[in-house]
Parts: sequence; structure tokens; C-alpha cells
Amino acid sequence: MAFISNVVAMKAAAVAALLVMAAVSPAARAQGGAPSVPAGPLDIAQLGAKGDGKSDSTPMLLKAWKNACDATGVQKIVIPPGNYLTGGMELSGPCKSSIIIRLDGNLLGTGDLNAYKKNWIEIENVENLSINGHGTIDGQGALVWNKNDCQHSYNCKILPNSLVLDFVTNAQIRGITLANSKFFHLNIFASKNVLIDKVTVTAPGNSPNTDGIHIGDSSNVTISGTTIGVGDDCISIGPGSKMIRIEGVKCGPGHGISVGSLGRYKDEKDVEDLKVKGCTLVGTTNGLRIKSYEDSKSSPKASKFLYEDVTMDNVSYPIIIDQKYCPNNICVRSGASKVAVTDVVFKNIHGTSNTPEAITLNCANNLPCQGVQLINVDIKYNGSGNKTMAVCKNAIGKSSGLAKELACI
Ligand SMILES: *[C@@H]1O[C@H](CO)[C@@H](O)[C@H](O)[C@H]1NC(C)=O
Ligand SMILES: *[C@@H]1O[C@H](CO)[C@@H](O)[C@H](O)[C@H]1NC(C)=O
Ligand SMILES: *[C@@H]1O[C@H](CO)[C@@H](O)[C@H](O)[C@H]1NC(C)=O
Ligand SMILES: *[C@@H]1O[C@H](CO)[C@@H](O)[C@H](O)[C@H]1NC(C)=O
Ligand SMILES: *[C@@H]1O[C@H](CO)[C@@H](O)[C@H](O)[C@H]1NC(C)=O
Repeated sequence: MAFISNVVAMKAAAVAALLVMAAVSPAARAQGGAPSVPAGPLDIAQLGAKGDGKSDSTPMLLKAWKNACDATGVQKIVIPPGNYLTGGMELSGPCKSSIIIRLDGNLLGTGDLNAYKKNWIEIENVENLSINGHGTIDGQGALVWNKNDCQHSYNCKILPNSLVLDFVTNAQIRGITLANSKFFHLNIFASKNVLIDKVTVTAPGNSPNTDGIHIGDSSNVTISGTTIGVGDDCISIGPGSKMIRIEGVKCGPGHGISVGSLGRYKDEKDVEDLKVKGCTLVGTTNGLRIKSYEDSKSSPKASKFLYEDVTMDNVSYPIIIDQKYCPNNICVRSGASKVAVTDVVFKNIHGTSNTPEAITLNCANNLPCQGVQLINVDIKYNGSGNKTMAVCKNAIGKSSGLAKELACI
């Protein structure tokens, strides 16, 4: 009986939430959705969570998830204004419902690493998920960044990623901020039909391995209108990624928008069909990058990439394909590549470079990059004592509309 009345109450709350959403202007909704309404068993404050930044809210969040997941229809979990400290949480499906997580408050990841199994907020096996609001998912990484030794050790302990989607289908993340993650801010794995819109990702430029958004083994992922400034790649696209769209993204500080590193592990799948359009990179250590390990352990293909209408502002290595990536000599330096790079178009890319090399195509002798097109690329070295240049090896394709010093193929 109690269960039934709970379900009725939840449905009423969901209807109320939809009504409130309908009353808000489309513009306000696009910025992150409607404000929260009391949601009974789905409101973590009503479940006893204290937004004091100190009390542990993990059990209340897990309870709200269970309540939502066990119900049917559309269920809206509410995190009201306040600072809610939690440890690691696995929010698992399959669920009978479509779940909205309304984030008005801030979630803080505890600095106690014993409170995590692996990641911080890991959402898995869920269909129809929406996370929206103006709140922040704050990993409080500064408490533990000094425990990251991945710069020195190949088999380092990986600190918790902040938000992880595993095997999620149909997801939207809108309006929220991801800040100061311990490791990656958002990791999208084995998921499809994911939209990341108007999200902010922020961490210091020198924080270790704080990638903004990492995508792997996923398809149909769109990142739009999003601002990312972090200590590693703004966006990194790993093996098995297909149909990836990146539009209107601002990146910097950070290491740029990267495909790879490919070939580090056995059995990696291809990366195919990537479009990057209308993006701006500011002061990043790389711009548009494709990197694969020299003499790699697998042979995924990288193909059908289009980079279009991208502005570079003081970017180091603005355009770079590196088939011989081998940081800290963790691979065999044979000079050979097993990762084929084909059909990569750079079109209307302009701005300034912080390195003399505006274009670097470092392809392997045994497996040249094929079908590379440089169209209207106009990038100028913005330093003194040197000149703008393109350094290209083993790249086959064509250039058009480029200054002589950049037309390297
Ligand atoms: C997800 O949404 C689709 C389309 O609206 C619907 O058919 C499906 O039942 C939903 N799944 C869940 C678990 O609610
Ligand atoms: C891709 O995902 C979006 C949601 O982000 C969805 O609307 C669209 O139908 C999907 N496209 C394909 C081809 O599955
Ligand atoms: C360009 O970026 C470098 C570091 O990447 C920085 O040291 C330099 O001050 C920047 N220059 C300008 C003009 O912003
Ligand atoms: C670099 O760019 C800035 C503006 O972005 C400009 O003021 C400066 O003169 C440029 N430096 C050189 C050496 O071209
Ligand atoms: C100009 O830049 C290139 C590429 O970084 C470098 O190899 C070369 O030594 C530089 N020349 C001068 C005069 O600094």
C-alpha cells in the first residue's frame, strides 16, 4: 500500500515537474532546465541529505536513485541548492523508468580515496537519462592530485573519474558544470545517442590527467556549446568511437581536441566519422591532434574526420597527426605504425600558433597517412625569431588555398 501511494506521489511530482518545465521559456530551459520542485522520495534533502558540505550524502543519493529506478514513467531526482559531499556511487540500471537528475546544488567528491571503488559517479546500463541544472559536480581534485604518479609510472593507480556513463543509451547532459575532477571529468564508455550541451568543464591548466570529456567505444555522441579548460585533453576520443560531433566548443587551457592515443592496448576498434566544427582553441599545448603509438599493440583505423571552421589563438602545434607517439619510451621505437590514418580534412582553420610548426604531419614510412586534405588553412606563428612552417612526412593528399610555406602535401 505504502508502495502504491509512493508511486502515485512520484507520478504527481513528475507531472508537476513537467508542468513547471512547460511554463519556463525555451531559452531558460536550454540553459539547464526548470527549477526543482519538491519531489518527495526523489529529493535528496527530503531523504535526509544535508547540504552543509560535510555530512555524507552518499546513502540519500543511492536511495533516490533506487526509488527512481524502481518506478516507471519519467522520474526526476532532485539535488536542491546546497553542497552535498559524497563518496563513490554506482547508479545502476536497468531501470523501468526514464530518469532526470536535476542538479541545482553542488556535489562534492570526498578527498578520502577509500570511499571510492573505482569512479565517483558511475551511471551504468541505463536508457533515457537526463542530467541538467546549474549545479556543479566538483571532484575536489586538489585534495589528491599529488597522489597521481601517471607522469612517471606506466602502471599508475588511476584516481576516480568524476562522472562516468557506461552502457547508457539516449542521454542528455545540459547546463551543469564539472569542476576539478581527480582524473577525467566525464568519461563516456560503450554508450550511444549522447548529447552534451552547454556544459562547463573547468580545472587548473596544470592539474594532472584532468581530461574534460573522454569518449570510448561509443557512437552518436554530440558535444555542443560547451566550454572546457583543463589540465589535459579538452576532449579525447578513444578507440571504438563512431559518429562523434563536436560543435561550438571552446577549449583552453588544455591539450586540445585529440583522437587517441590509439594502439596502446590489444583489440582496439576503429575511430570513424568525426566532425569538429565551429570551435575555438586558446593557448592549448596542441590543437587538433590525432595520435597513435609507434609499433602499437593493435591496428585500429582512424578515418573520415572533418575539422572545419576552427579558430586557433596562440596554440602550440595547431594541426598535428602523430603516428609515432611514444611518451616516456613506453613503446618500441621502431619508426613503424600499425594504425592507418585516412580521409582527414582540415578546412577553414585559421589563427595564430605558439610554435613555428603550424602543421605537423608525422606519418610513418610503412603506413603513410592517406587522403589528407588541407583546405584554406591560414595559421601564423605568433612568436619572434622564427617563421611559420609545416613539417610533413609520409602524408598523401592535397592542399588548396594555402600559403606556400604551409602547402606541404
Ligand atoms: C526510453 O524512451 C523511449 C522513447 O521515448 C521509450 O520507448 C522507452 O520505453 C524508454 N525507456 C525507458 C526505460 O523508460
Ligand atoms: C543520435 O542521438 C540523438 C540524441 O542525441 C538522436 O536524436 C538521434 O536520433 C541519434 N541519431 C541516430 C542516427 O541514431
Ligand atoms: C601563448 O601561450 C604560451 C603558453 O602556451 C604563453 O606562455 C604565452 O604567454 C601565450 N602568449 C600570448 C600572446 O598569449
Ligand atoms: C601575437 O599576437 C598578439 C595578439 O594576439 C599581438 O599583439 C602580437 O603582436 C603578436 N606577436 C607577434 C610576434 O606576432
Ligand atoms: C625554428 O623552429 C624549428 C621548429 O621548431 C626549429 O627546429 C628551429 O631550430 C627554429 N629555428 C630557430 C632559428 O630558432
